[in-house]
Amino acid sequence: MSTTLQDLRAEFPALAGGLCFLDWGATGLLARSARAALTSYLDELESCPSGESTWMHARHHETREAARRELGALLNAPANTIGLLENTTAGLNAAVSSIRLQKGENVLLAANDYLAVATPWKHRAARDQIELRWVAPRDGRIEVDDLVSALDERTRVIAISTVGWTTGALLDLERLSAEVRSRGILLVIDAIQTFGVVPLDLEATPVAFLAVGGHKWLNSTLGAGFLYVHPNIAARHQPPYLGFLSGRAPRGNWGDWFADPRSRPDESIVFPNCGRSFETGGTPSYVGAIGLLENARLLRAVGSEAIGRAVSHLGGLLIAGLESLGLAVVTPKEQRRRAGIVVFNAPGGPEQEAAWIEALRTQRIIVSRRYCAGVGGIRVSIHGMNTAEDLERLLSALRSLRG
Ligand SMILES: Cc1ncc(COP(=O)(O)O)c(C=O)c1O
Repeated sequence: MSTTLQDLRAEFPALAGGLCFLDWGATGLLARSARAALTSYLDELESCPSGESTWMHARHHETREAARRELGALLNAPANTIGLLENTTAGLNAAVSSIRLQKGENVLLAANDYLAVATPWKHRAARDQIELRWVAPRDGRIEVDDLVSALDERTRVIAISTVGWTTGALLDLERLSAEVRSRGILLVIDAIQTFGVVPLDLEATPVAFLAVGGHKWLNSTLGAGFLYVHPNIAARHQPPYLGFLSGRAPRGNWGDWFADPRSRPDESIVFPNCGRSFETGGTPSYVGAIGLLENARLLRAVGSEAIGRAVSHLGGLLIAGLESLGLAVVTPKEQRRRAGIVVFNAPGGPEQEAAWIEALRTQRIIVSRRYCAGVGGIRVSIHGMNTAEDLERLLSALRSLRG
């Protein structure tokens, strides 16, 4: 039986309860199925039903593997390209630390990108005398042509988000990937703001690294995300750290090894060269893995294409509605340059925007205010579980506020 967008909406009880939630770009909501799976895990933790604690580890290693498989499938990538990590920052830091760079080489960054993208590179640049080149947006958009013009023979990496977090302008990742392929430049991508709502096929659009936090559009519990590592990159780049659970147990599985009198810490462990090896390799967050797995399953059941189409359509309706109210829209109007984020301005500027957000909140309409480098405004995040009625409710509230 196929899962429809209505079924997806029904997974979020708060929406049925009258919450007009348009803030998935900040923090998502927990789905019913994820809550049920988490509750059963908490029950297990409370009572150890198998009478064997090691069992709980083993069981949830399978959960983690299933999560890698489902997340990978959403990107058309095999499970072993995916490492489960705490958040986007952890994934980006693992990528940044594993790339070998020489003094004087350079990395391109977008001048309006999120801090998670810039921070690890600022640290690395100061430590290793790497040049950072900040590419300026045009009308809030980062254009592939501008990235290409900024690179030279010493450019090794472009580190960038798939969509502007304060503009909603979607990067043309397909073109960027094609442009850098022959130049040997690595793409380190932050996809937290598009994963699940903008379909991405990493076979067709290869990148070196792609990091995603699960707590926004993926509706996972907070503090759970993943890093994709391209197999050719994983073969050549060592993760910045290794933990035993990222390797293969020298004999049997880890449960067997712990109980074996021959076991010693100096035995050699084989670490596969794959995305999974970029995990911390210690006891991981099973809560996080359960949240990622259940929500990835849900999105896969509906299909990224169906969600993407719905989100584009709803974004178009919202933009038209905002313009008919005379409000300035920051986000590009063309469908192919938008994701799920639509940003607009109140005529009275940031102060009025803050007041409007508060007024909307009292009507149970949830949106955010976000700015970077002077560009931004009221940020509306539209997911596949939203409907035209949600947007009509927002527009009608804005009509009254506008007066
Ligand atoms: C583009 C982008 N990257 C990353 C993050 C969050 O990073 P992390 O998952 O490390 O908290 C956000 C959150 O707003 C974001 O908008």
